[in-house]
Amino acid sequence: MSGKRFHPSKKKKLFSEKRLKSLKPAEMLSKLNLKEGDIFVDVGAGNGFFSLPAAEIVGEKGKVYSVDVEIDMLLDLKHRAQQAGLTDRIEICKSEDNDANLHQSADFMLFAYLFHEVEDKAEFLDNYFNFLEKGSRVVFIEWDPDQREEGPPLHHRVKSEQLKAMLEERNIKNIEVKAIDYNSYLISGLKV
Ligand SMILES: C[S@@+](CC[C@H](N)C(=O)[O-])C[C@H]1O[C@@H](n2cnc3c(N)ncnc32)[C@H](O)[C@@H]1O
Repeated sequence: MSGKRFHPSKKKKLFSEKRLKSLKPAEMLSKLNLKEGDIFVDVGAGNGFFSLPAAEIVGEKGKVYSVDVEIDMLLDLKHRAQQAGLTDRIEICKSEDNDANLHQSADFMLFAYLFHEVEDKAEFLDNYFNFLEKGSRVVFIEWDPDQREEGPPLHHRVKSEQLKAMLEERNIKNIEVKAIDYNSYLISGLKV
């Protein structure tokens, strides 16, 4: 296991008022063009900060696959999905470090606040990008190494230029990088 990994005992922090207000996950996903009927794969889903609003957006015709290495995080997500009446639209998938354990292609694949925790970044990307169809959207959200307030140690963080180059090497095009609230940046692109 990676020593950089988020500890499940801190999972409540992910739903803090500050984080919800800064990132506005439902609004963010809609602006990124997630839509009704989409297959959404949330890699490193944690306890559902993005999976739950995504399930509302994709609706009954769509599906959310929430992938995580930590079963504790996924069980919390499942509980939250039950409370929100969204269990039919969310499937939880327990993965291994570099094995997605996923049998589904995606219209939209999200990697939010997870990539800095991954040890073998190249192998990880190669594995997950196998599940992308041509035209699928890929979005990464990460901590900005140039911002100091809260978040993981600065030396664990990944520069946006480095991540962008890794995506370009893997046929992700139309890449856009932008700074967002919460000391973070967002990279989106399309698989060609
Ligand atoms: C900081 S949390 C972010 C959770 C969620 N994406 C969010 O933004 O609220 C990072 C999550 O990534 C998971 N994770 C770390 N390495 C992973 C890997 N190699 N594959 C899948 N999940 C991983 C952790 O277990 C944790 O739940």
